Amino acid sequence: MSFTITTPLYYVNDKPHLGSVYTTIICDSIARYKRLLGEKVLFITGVDEHGLKIQRKAEEKKVSPQIHCDEISDCFIDNWKKWEITFNKFIRTTSDHHEKIVIEFYEKVKNSNDIYMGVQKGWYCVGCEEFKENPDNSPLKKCPIHNKNLEWRDEENLFFRLSKYQSQIEEIINEEGFIEPKERKNEIINFVSKGLKDFSISRTNLNWGIKVPDHKSHTFYVWFDALLGYISAISINDREKSLSDSILMGWPASIHIIGKDILRFHAIYWPAMLLSAGIKPPKKVFGHGFLTREGQKMGKSLGNVLDPQMLFSKYGNEAVRWYLLKDISLGNDGDFQDKRFVDIINNDLANTIGNLLNRSSSMSRKWFNNKTPFLEEKTDTKIKEYAYKTIDNYISNFNKYKIDLASNEILNFAINVNLYLNENQPWTLIKDDKNIEQVKYIIYNVLESCRIIGLLLKPILPNLSCKILVQLGELNLDNKSWKESLNWGLLPLDSELPKPNPIIDKLNYD
Ligand code: MSP
Repeated sequence: MSFTITTPLYYVNDKPHLGSVYTTIICDSIARYKRLLGEKVLFITGVDEHGLKIQRKAEEKKVSPQIHCDEISDCFIDNWKKWEITFNKFIRTTSDHHEKIVIEFYEKVKNSNDIYMGVQKGWYCVGCEEFKENPDNSPLKKCPIHNKNLEWRDEENLFFRLSKYQSQIEEIINEEGFIEPKERKNEIINFVSKGLKDFSISRTNLNWGIKVPDHKSHTFYVWFDALLGYISAISINDREKSLSDSILMGWPASIHIIGKDILRFHAIYWPAMLLSAGIKPPKKVFGHGFLTREGQKMGKSLGNVLDPQMLFSKYGNEAVRWYLLKDISLGNDGDFQDKRFVDIINNDLANTIGNLLNRSSSMSRKWFNNKTPFLEEKTDTKIKEYAYKTIDNYISNFNKYKIDLASNEILNFAINVNLYLNENQPWTLIKDDKNIEQVKYIIYNVLESCRIIGLLLKPILPNLSCKILVQLGELNLDNKSWKESLNWGLLPLDSELPKPNPIIDKLNYD
């Protein structure tokens, strides 16, 4: 099975912000999970480099747009490497290959008779790169998202016949699972029910874009160009490949993960453009929520923007991943709170999971010659059943992209195994020789539970997972698949346990 997942292609007006790190971490975790299930994953990310916003940014910096784009694009790549993002393709919309695919696509849409010249009048937000309309048609002065003045436009543009696709789009957006979460789906259905209007796909007076082949004074509208990046990305390392080759190599996307603000582009405009070119629409569009900070919208004017770079240096990759993946339900808005962050990392990772592993492996080492115990009857059926229930719930949640619930399954399992250990008190039992078999049994079941925890953490916290598994000894699982390794009882008996180290350092408030 193959699985194509995409992040949005980020504007290069600035280096990655917490919102882009958030989406990319989500996609990374899903991509890792699908790979563990044995699927062939194509994980696409990249940058959106054209348009007025980028042109103006370069002018401000007094550099050419290309130099500006090169610099920020490198910064994205460096960042994703640092965050250990396992992307397979990185697309830049200024690449020649992308330009070739956009033009090929445009010809197809033109051949479907879906392009015409018209006049575009309206209020434009350069931040959103989008025309804005008030429901009552009164002119808006400022963009509600960027809080910046809108600019009036009155120019000849090429238009795309979106209206022609009204009924097909209605059908697609109503398909089960095409738009998630549900609340977002309703917003889109409501918008479409008011009637789709054709939209302009070219700009005059804008140099920084791909030139429209038969209208040299026009460049393509940045969204028309950028959405195609999802397809040109597939063949970016194989530059002689055409649009149709790329399609065969991994289209349609299984899922586009995007922020809720750009859902219309992905769930309406993009499928209609694809239908016009005779290409299948993506299978799913998931609109996640926005991150706020201590309850407030993050913004430069409020001075409360959280720099992901700072979070990385201060807390490390895995702590940030756990907070974003476990504490925020994908689809809802999420709040970043400093105190909560420290509490969650300390409680969940250091105290609950880390401590469980350290104390059980220390006891085993101490009492069983630096090894796991050796025993005949090793399985506590209650713990085993709990582990299997945890695995089932984890998988069913992950399959629905409920990564927060999947993470909580692991945590709850760890909490209960801690309880099991506390209730059974092997440190008291060991004082009497006659209890030795019982102690072995308890310790084995706890260590085996830690192995399951380590495996389940793999797509969420890959490094922490690795540390847990290493600490349980070199586990030779005979090239078993990840799913097979989740079978109970595979922790070897009487095998070396390395000296325990804390798997994560506790954080301080400051
Ligand atoms: N370039 C377009 C996407 C084109 S896709 C073919 C774009 N880029 S963006 O850089 O402005 O935004 C990228 C993503 O960041 C969007 O999905 C947006 O929703 C997300 N976020 C921006 N601020 C955010 C938060 N505060 N919180 C979470 N995500 C946020 O739009």
